[in-house]
Amino acid sequence: MGLNNNVENNKKLRSSDWFGRKGKDGFIYRAWMKNQGIPWDMFRDKPVIGICNTWSELTPCNAHFRELAESVRRGVLEAGGFPVEFPVMSLGETLMKPTAMLFRNLASMDVEESIRANPLDGVVLLCGCDKTTPSLVMGACSVDLPTLVVSGGPMLTGKYRGRNIGTSDIWRFSEDARRGMMSEEELNLAEGGMCRSRGHCAVMGTASSMASMVEALGITLPGNAAIPAADANRKVLAQLSGRRIVEMVRKDLKLSDILTRQAFENAIRVNAAIGGSTNFAIHLMAIAGRMGVELELEDFDRFSREVPLVANLQPSGAYFMEDLYYAGGLPAVMHAIERFLHTDALTANGRTVGENTAGCVSVDTTVIATVEEPINPVSGMVVLRGNLCEDGAVLKPSAASPALMQHTGRAVVFRDIEDYKRKIDDPDLDVDETSVLVLKNVGPKGYPGMPEVGNMGIPMKLLAKGVTDMVRISDGRMSGTGFGTVVLHVSPEAAAGGTLALVEDGDLIRLDVAGRRLELLVEEGELASRRARWQNEVNPFARGYAKLYVDHVEQAHLGADFDFLKGGSGSEVSRDSH
Ligand code: FES
Ligand code: MG
Repeated sequence: MGLNNNVENNKKLRSSDWFGRKGKDGFIYRAWMKNQGIPWDMFRDKPVIGICNTWSELTPCNAHFRELAESVRRGVLEAGGFPVEFPVMSLGETLMKPTAMLFRNLASMDVEESIRANPLDGVVLLCGCDKTTPSLVMGACSVDLPTLVVSGGPMLTGKYRGRNIGTSDIWRFSEDARRGMMSEEELNLAEGGMCRSRGHCAVMGTASSMASMVEALGITLPGNAAIPAADANRKVLAQLSGRRIVEMVRKDLKLSDILTRQAFENAIRVNAAIGGSTNFAIHLMAIAGRMGVELELEDFDRFSREVPLVANLQPSGAYFMEDLYYAGGLPAVMHAIERFLHTDALTANGRTVGENTAGCVSVDTTVIATVEEPINPVSGMVVLRGNLCEDGAVLKPSAASPALMQHTGRAVVFRDIEDYKRKIDDPDLDVDETSVLVLKNVGPKGYPGMPEVGNMGIPMKLLAKGVTDMVRISDGRMSGTGFGTVVLHVSPEAAAGGTLALVEDGDLIRLDVAGRRLELLVEEGELASRRARWQNEVNPFARGYAKLYVDHVEQAHLGADFDFLKGGSGSEVSRDSH
């Protein structure tokens, strides 16, 4: 059996360790594939391409992925490969409790082990809803085969009474409903108009930020981020990706060839230019950790500082992913900020970032502007330090109120999310618009799973006065679709004994965005005595995945991966099953 004729550099196909074997092992590996009605010549000496599918009806954003997989399959066959589709754990943002983030690392383990254990030469990752992208990429990085991502694409722009709407409006609608400005019927109407097509959230939330991240990193074909899920071109991209992954196997172009430090710096700068999600920091750190690329939280501030906001997308701007696509998509954004990018970075199609984006000019500068006349000179992510967040915290300035960027106020403290829900609308709550809302125990270990509750709603009695933003601080995350002057990812978290755990009602807190500081203005001696009194609650999870999670999850500033998942184990498996 000829084994060497598929890889240009004469490296034999990894799958030949299964299908190219003689004797008992080869018999077993081949015979059971044949029970699917597959002729031997379809997979004999062919690059075997796994299509890693997060299709699930419980992940509505990815519910169209069986069709997308068919397009990939067609492309793989055309290029002379052998496609095999396999399911992995799918994480739906909207339905999973207590938060899909709790399961990101679990799904990444599923992906990693599924790829390594099977006779795959290359993989196409089908990603859509928020956590499905980082979990798949993290898992794939720890194996490091030739890998290409195909995103599912955003939904078409939502419609409500002649207005364009998207996920960011949920936060506005719910505040309007709370203060009686929107009726139940109006909410129902908006609910039916928001998600009117297949695809993931149509604003620059976390899913769109992740789709942009993988394109900026160079592990998709150009144009991946913005093509709407309902647009025929999404299927074209999937089919072309199927063709390309076969070539990548032949050239042995692996993730580690593309995911260099330069690629990560590019991704940070692109995320700034598009006003991407704060969750991006956590996921990119986790991916870098798998790849063994040095990255620290300050890099997100440093590399995005001079990059202005050029994409005018909600929640930082006005438009939707569909508009981004029509204006030229991510290649036009990357072209606009070219001077900030490593244009010689290699991408999955074998060309550089500069080659891929050359000539990709914006066709609508109201949606994709220029560096000279940006949508907002302020963008990116601010990384704060101070005694309230020794290991860092983040804030998205383009989604915050300029008037609150320098602010000192009295803390109104909520012990946990239940305490918050109990007290927030209490007319007797001692709070005014200058107060700083502090929510504890919503970090990785504390919740557990670090939910998107950091942009906590404002007290009813202040909403009634017309207050729309306040400084809010927590160890949790915020939906990428959210906005406000919200300090997130405080590290170390309260449940890990961070200073956040010691904040009491009435303490003064100073936020200084320009100075990158977040300080709890309490005497050192007083803090020391509070710390001596502080007792962590015992981890209530005695068994199962939640126990594993709380025991091993790292803090947010490191990417909230498990300590034992850092790095990779390669693709070699030397032992057989029988
Ligand atoms: Fe899936 Fe927003 S809920 S992307
Ligand atoms: Mg989300």
